[in-house]
Amino acid sequence: MSHAHGLPSPVSSRSGAALKGRIRVPGDKSISHRSMIFGLLSIGETRVEGLLEGDDVLRTAEACRALGARITREAPGRWRIVGVGIGGLTEPSGILDFGNAGTGSRLMMGVAGSHPITATFDGDASLRKRPMRRILDPLAKMGVVSEAEGGRVPLTLRGPKETLPIAYETPAASAQIKSAILLAGLNSPGRTTVIEREATRDHTERMLRHFGASVEVAAHGADGRAITLQGQPELRGSTVVVPTDPSSAAFPLVAALITPGSDLVLEGVMMNPLRTGLITTLLEMGAAIERLNERDEGGETVADLRVRHSRLAGVTVPAGRAPSMIDEYPILAVAAAFAEGTTRMQGLHELRVKESDRLEAVAAGLGEAGVAHEIEGDDLIVHGSGGRVRGGGRPVATHLDHRIAMAFLVMGLATAEPMTVDDGAMIATSFPAFIPLMRELGAQIYD
Ligand code: S3P
Repeated sequence: MSHAHGLPSPVSSRSGAALKGRIRVPGDKSISHRSMIFGLLSIGETRVEGLLEGDDVLRTAEACRALGARITREAPGRWRIVGVGIGGLTEPSGILDFGNAGTGSRLMMGVAGSHPITATFDGDASLRKRPMRRILDPLAKMGVVSEAEGGRVPLTLRGPKETLPIAYETPAASAQIKSAILLAGLNSPGRTTVIEREATRDHTERMLRHFGASVEVAAHGADGRAITLQGQPELRGSTVVVPTDPSSAAFPLVAALITPGSDLVLEGVMMNPLRTGLITTLLEMGAAIERLNERDEGGETVADLRVRHSRLAGVTVPAGRAPSMIDEYPILAVAAAFAEGTTRMQGLHELRVKESDRLEAVAAGLGEAGVAHEIEGDDLIVHGSGGRVRGGGRPVATHLDHRIAMAFLVMGLATAEPMTVDDGAMIATSFPAFIPLMRELGAQIYD
């Protein structure tokens, strides 16, 4: 399961027993990245509980160290960060290598670019294909100079003496763009405003407030928001309790829905309404998902989710729901393959610029498994089989994309023939314990 030899490590799954038990999936990736970054930008000590120790977050931690933070791991998931404060970053002596991490790299571009330092960003073959103009363009308006061939990493940022605050409407519904600008606005005098036409995950706004910044959020149009930050606050080190990641919970959740006889509980899953589009969609499809024991953890509502095998029906998923389930389309496509009837997922253009071109990667995997489907413009249409999916085929090409790997391993738990993915190594970026946890539930996943 590692790239120790630089070779891909195929992983397979096959159908077997029902999935049963109770598990807790790891901490949220979005909040874990941000906890490191807010720790860096605060004065004093930040304590993090339940950090996701996936490769992506560890890269962000390394970058925060290179910019001056003192970071220690005290126990599994428990980390301590002593920050340097806004304006206090030191110039990194080497390249900031973000590996596979889009979120870490883009957010840190806002952080480093807004300081009078030079910083070079790089990453793996997947990150080197992803568009960074969406971050560099607004940063240029703030005075940040960039050298980026083709608008990709490797790239170098040179921050001005003082960045200018801007008002900016994001061209795509993206929490990464929003967050990069707000984080750059922290070291700018005056007010920085980001307008988004569709609301995206609001973890940055919540954490800005939690660490002591002043943020105003107003409605903008029917579905959008205008977020205004007062620049140059003093952030104070705080405690962050990281709730569990709904985007990771999605995999065992769908596994239980498609595997006959399954009945399991996913403990303490974050229910932030800007993250629960998949659950909304699965409930519309007829899924037996119960939200139990709702409570507050670390400023977010969490619930235990009881999930049982269900007969699903195809639905249309409107484009407007995409921001609240943007990372969940690969696994929704798997659920759709087992549903009765057709599922149409609309407006998926942003899927083309994830860790892989997820629209093409999902379609190719469905094709290997014998699932009828089409791509029409930016829509993915899956013709469900009412529970019987052949599976088999050639190994699914994962293109360095953890969610493609996990989605098709879940599919193989309920197909007639086993499924294989060409490389499981990237699963460690977001959900290192995926395979052992799934095995604990009874899943047959093997390498
Ligand atoms: C994230 C935002 C989303 C999501 C990613 C995490 C974040 O990306 O896909 O996994 O933490 O802000 P976009 O902003 O590109 O939609």
